[in-house]
Amino acid sequence: MHTPGFPAVRPRRLRANPLVRDMVRETVLDVRDFILPLFVRPGTNVRQEISSMPGNYQLSVDRLVDEVGAARDLGIRGFILFGIPSSKDATGSSALRDDGIVQLSLRALRSVYKSEVVLLTDECFCEYTDHGHCGPLCETGGRVDVDNDATLPLLAAQCVSHARAGADIVAPSGMMDGMVQAIRTGLDQAGFSHTPILSYAAKYASGFYGPFREAAESPPQFGDRGGYQMDPANGDEALREVELDLAEGADMVMVKPALSYMDIIRRVKDRFGVPVAAYNVSGEFAMVKAAAQKGWIDERRVALEILTSIRRAGADLILTYFARDAAKWLRQG
Ligand code: PBG
Repeated sequence: MHTPGFPAVRPRRLRANPLVRDMVRETVLDVRDFILPLFVRPGTNVRQEISSMPGNYQLSVDRLVDEVGAARDLGIRGFILFGIPSSKDATGSSALRDDGIVQLSLRALRSVYKSEVVLLTDECFCEYTDHGHCGPLCETGGRVDVDNDATLPLLAAQCVSHARAGADIVAPSGMMDGMVQAIRTGLDQAGFSHTPILSYAAKYASGFYGPFREAAESPPQFGDRGGYQMDPANGDEALREVELDLAEGADMVMVKPALSYMDIIRRVKDRFGVPVAAYNVSGEFAMVKAAAQKGWIDERRVALEILTSIRRAGADLILTYFARDAAKWLRQG
């Protein structure tokens, strides 16, 4: 078949008029697709800015309630909670307490906001262990490693505890083999068969998590997370991870980080057609903030371009520290 070319075809015809340009736009950002990460710590009236993440704070439960209210007023509905506990130990036992920091936060938020917000919980132990790894340790082949199978029942217990306290969706982020199955079984047995799992299915061992580890006070005290998080060089492996998590009962899957992994987002979306979340992580946020503070880039323009691109790549949901700013910018139009 012969396809006519120039001068019959002129792509610029649809670009000249801004209103026509709007009509043919393929991707539209919507505040309903944002999930705002929040960091909660013990105490009262604490609102301490995270230096590498301007505009983001470690909050005590009372201030967390205010923060969620302010964000909800901007149209944001989804929130994911990260806890900074008052004590840490080798197994991260404070993560399982009924009066743990995330459990207290969930109860407080649930009682104030009822069904007006969607509360997600990050399910992992790195914030709760004194060594900063994502589960209890063991030694295999002369290497210290996270004990995969010992972590599974702990993850299930953490999720059940969060579901009881009011979590709407649990999001396991530790990249343990079999974690989705263990959590699904645990939730079902505890009467939470209706609670969805958003699995951090393709989570890479990334340098872009730097600011988060300051925010959540969770850097590994030795070694790195290369023994459980994925090698940034691998793409096919991400598809196998996603396939396994879906087979184990994941309702949604996440790709993390977002920007260096746009190809993974697209491949996951094309292959599986399930709801995909992308985590626009702390380092990706911090780079934009820092360059904008220096006057090197236009923050609003770049942030909206990034968020739009993540959606265009195939993500349905975006976890992003830009959620509040973006909500305001979208309102201004
Ligand atoms: C693990 C977890 C991490 C992030 C979210 N969940 C840190 C890690 O894997 O080391 C990073 C998020 C970000 O950088 O914004 N609980």
